[in-house]
Amino acid sequence: MSTSTQTVHVHTTSRDYDVLVGNNLLAQTGALVRKAGAFDAAFVVSDTNVAPLYLDRVRTSLEAAGFATQSAVVEAGERHKNLATFGTILEGMARAGLTRDSVVIALGGGVVGDMAGFAAASYMRGIQVIQVPTTLLSMVDSSVGGKTAIDLSCGKNLVGAFLQPTLVIADVSCLMTLEHEVFIDGLGEIVKHGVLADEELFDQLTHSPLRQDSDPSYLVHVVAHNVSIKRDVVGADEQEHGVRQTLNLGHTIGHAIEAASGYTLGHGHCVAAGLCCVSRAAEKLGWAPAGMSARIDACVTAQGLPTTTDISTGELFAQATHDKKRHGSGVNLVVPTGIGSVEMRHVSLDELAQIIELS
Ligand code: GLY
Repeated sequence: MSTSTQTVHVHTTSRDYDVLVGNNLLAQTGALVRKAGAFDAAFVVSDTNVAPLYLDRVRTSLEAAGFATQSAVVEAGERHKNLATFGTILEGMARAGLTRDSVVIALGGGVVGDMAGFAAASYMRGIQVIQVPTTLLSMVDSSVGGKTAIDLSCGKNLVGAFLQPTLVIADVSCLMTLEHEVFIDGLGEIVKHGVLADEELFDQLTHSPLRQDSDPSYLVHVVAHNVSIKRDVVGADEQEHGVRQTLNLGHTIGHAIEAASGYTLGHGHCVAAGLCCVSRAAEKLGWAPAGMSARIDACVTAQGLPTTTDISTGELFAQATHDKKRHGSGVNLVVPTGIGSVEMRHVSLDELAQIIELS
């Protein structure tokens, strides 16, 4: 039986767009891009992991739909999400003669999506981007919501722009080729969504963790459902002045773990551990009901993700207070108050140190 494609419509103040989630969508990229706009050319940005697998298929489909197509393939990995690679992409776009009517196609995981999106936001003061995420993490999180960025040597995502995509094409067949650790990295953000807003999703994941060999229609359902959770938040607060900050659940300690590991640990692994840490501390402080953190630990463990870190509390505190999300004399911490509910608390740096000690 064929798997039906699900469409999640995203409404934001700057743009409305569809996120298409289906199986074997890549071969239809050209027709889908054609429907999304009258572009004069398509420029595909991919990386050295993804391009050998999918670039030809996507370019062939774009060319069959009548697009003049060129591409840039950058080195894979977070350490290449920097000014030098960003410059290479922009130079490639200029050499390809892109105009303000051209479109950038970001084919890859979060690193490619962030860099290609930021290049699109910057080139000629902004052209359109279509996100074609190929990892679970980029399907359920980074391809949706318009955050684009590159890293500086002082920190991650320090330069960027909001640019909502014109279309997102999430093809779950791409998940089959991921290394196991890369696949489960996406489950960190999925568990986070469950804790944030959906107890049913959370319980479902605890009892039947998503796997690469899950039925494609189950993969489509879970990805589309997670996109709709993120859509509801982003639609209410596109530029993270308020409720969008709740998507940072698990990220204060998660980012600290990621930075302390020198970005060798996957983002979703770090978010999962950060989520468990803040949950344990919240429970000990009486901000969350007894038993909540054990449930979160069990769900995270069922996905094969870490619930803790061996990085010292001193190092975690130092990294957490470097984070760009620091506000004045403290940080806005997202605290789980149950499965499916959170609250924002502005905590002082002393309170943050205590939370890390208790975690
Ligand atoms: N990944 C969090 C956000 O997009 O706001």
